[in-house]
Amino acid sequence: MEASLKEKIEKRTKEVEEILYSYLPEEEGYQKTVISAMNYTMRAGGKRLRPMLMDETYRMFGGTDRALIEPFMAAIEMIHTYSLIHDDLPALDNDDYRRGRKTAHVVYGEAMAILAGDALLNYAFETASKAFRGTEEDIRTARAFAILTRKPGIYGMIGGQTADVESEQREIPFEELLFIHENKTAALIECAMMIGAVLAGASQEEVATVEQIARKTGVAFQIQDDILDLTSTQEELGKPVGSDEKNEKNTYVSMKGLEQSGKDVIQYTKEAIDAFDSLHRDYPFLRDLLLYLSGRKK
Ligand code: IPE
Ligand code: IPE
Ligand code: MG
Ligand code: MG
Ligand code: MG
Repeated sequence: MEASLKEKIEKRTKEVEEILYSYLPEEEGYQKTVISAMNYTMRAGGKRLRPMLMDETYRMFGGTDRALIEPFMAAIEMIHTYSLIHDDLPALDNDDYRRGRKTAHVVYGEAMAILAGDALLNYAFETASKAFRGTEEDIRTARAFAILTRKPGIYGMIGGQTADVESEQREIPFEELLFIHENKTAALIECAMMIGAVLAGASQEEVATVEQIARKTGVAFQIQDDILDLTSTQEELGKPVGSDEKNEKNTYVSMKGLEQSGKDVIQYTKEAIDAFDSLHRDYPFLRDLLLYLSGRKK
């Protein structure tokens, strides 16, 4: 009997995790503490969604070179993990739990958590640079590397986090909330999937479609995150619930209500799937994974 989708995702998560672990730095030297803090959060678990989406997009476009894609898979998870460590800091969301464990600043102190975040960002680029091999395909690798530097930055994740922090305790137009969702969250998902496509040699038009798929998926993902912050439990999520209310954040739910938010997760997912289908690639696992995310409980 064919394994269920959930079982397939679990199996893939473990495989992705093994790849990530193989790129983690050794905890040694006078810098041992910061490396321990990096690895502590990298090893804490998490859905490993971004590297999985990257790899599946790569495979869908026919990519087979593991030595090319794997450094980028590790890099995107390092960047995502840094964004979580910094997001939880007292100066940002001030949350004490992440991935079912005490967050990095609680265990290692604020200074080390700041440095571990910086270090993960930097080590991500050091890791991705291992994909350069002095061959002709370095042209593709350079394009992927440029995406890896841009999407997490001021025109992506950091841009969104900036607007998110500045939206606390005041009313914002809905347009600004969409900017926040498209940047703080969708940008890293775009980054992941676009890199998979570029490294596999997809056309510019295909990469643009992949960007659209990822943007819609990313907005749906953050709406669902806002819903779960209100309706789930810390036990299930591995992070505190009620964080948004505590910080007087504008969220999709605070602006549109729970019911409409649920409908919009489905609508954004539908738009992502329509764009996916327009690629005419027979690759059901990625399609199923995108659909599965809209009903996720954690
Ligand atoms: C959490 O991302 C931050 C958001 C963008 C909502 P994930 O929900 O993917 O967190 P992990 O990686 O599974 O811990
Ligand atoms: C954060 O959004 C997105 C990041 C860039 C980390 P949230 O602040 O809602 O993420 P969680 O709920 O803490 O994971
Ligand atoms: Mg936040
Ligand atoms: Mg947060
Ligand atoms: Mg949240």
